[in-house]
Amino acid sequence: MTPLKDKPNHIAIIMDGNGRWAIEKGLSRKEGHYAGLKNIYSVVNHALTFGIKNLSLFAFSNENWQRNNSEIKYLLSLMDQALDEDIQRFKNQNIRVRHIGRPDRLSKNIQEKIQKAENFTKDNTKMNLNIVFDFGGREEILDAVKKIIKEKPDIDEINQEFFEEYLYSGQLPNVDLIIRTSGEMRLSNFFLWKSHYAEFYCTEVKWPDFNETEMKKALLDYNERHRRYGKTTH
Ligand code: IPE
Ligand code: IPE
Ligand code: MG
Repeated sequence: MTPLKDKPNHIAIIMDGNGRWAIEKGLSRKEGHYAGLKNIYSVVNHALTFGIKNLSLFAFSNENWQRNNSEIKYLLSLMDQALDEDIQRFKNQNIRVRHIGRPDRLSKNIQEKIQKAENFTKDNTKMNLNIVFDFGGREEILDAVKKIIKEKPDIDEINQEFFEEYLYSGQLPNVDLIIRTSGEMRLSNFFLWKSHYAEFYCTEVKWPDFNETEMKKALLDYNERHRRYGKTTH
């Protein structure tokens, strides 16, 4: 691969299209989600190979609670299973795992496993892997506002750095590149705050098929972008 002159420090992926991938193959949506979970491990490996320091994966939005019960239950069971079976692998790969999103709507069992996984991997330094689960960008901002109001800070203290500390995603760096699979070109309430100057890359490829070649394409595309942050062109 052509050497990358500019690598995104933080990639955030909207892992979309599991359902459509499955239906196309005559499988159930659940089988699509299972294939989607398996693909996470491959993509994490590719991200390590490419030297990506921060990877956030959107796995469940707060709007996804509107899906039918059996699909929700299955997605939660996959999260539960992954927390049991895969944390050791991430630990061995020197990956720090974090959950980003609302903790309190998840079962006590899952909340405890998240805590355990975060503690278990907290000293790892090669990559930060953020599992974005039960997250909505508007809710994140509203929840931050509520926490701040409770604290009654001096109004002059409130600037962007101050505000960010109250966000679920507060400790993450700004997003450089958002990748969305399966052809949709929308944010679906993902990182509203952290994506303020993110570059977008959308592909028709559905999440279970998003492989190393596709990841390379996204990185090469990112390399051609000119990020100006509102300044004049040179
Ligand atoms: C993404 O796949 C996974 C989640 C949103 C949980 P979808 O389930 O949205 O798949 P499509 O978009 O219906 O194909
Ligand atoms: C976005 O996908 C959320 C995740 C990938 C977790 P959706 O499938 O829920 O988004 P919409 O409904 O197509 O916007
Ligand atoms: Mg979808």
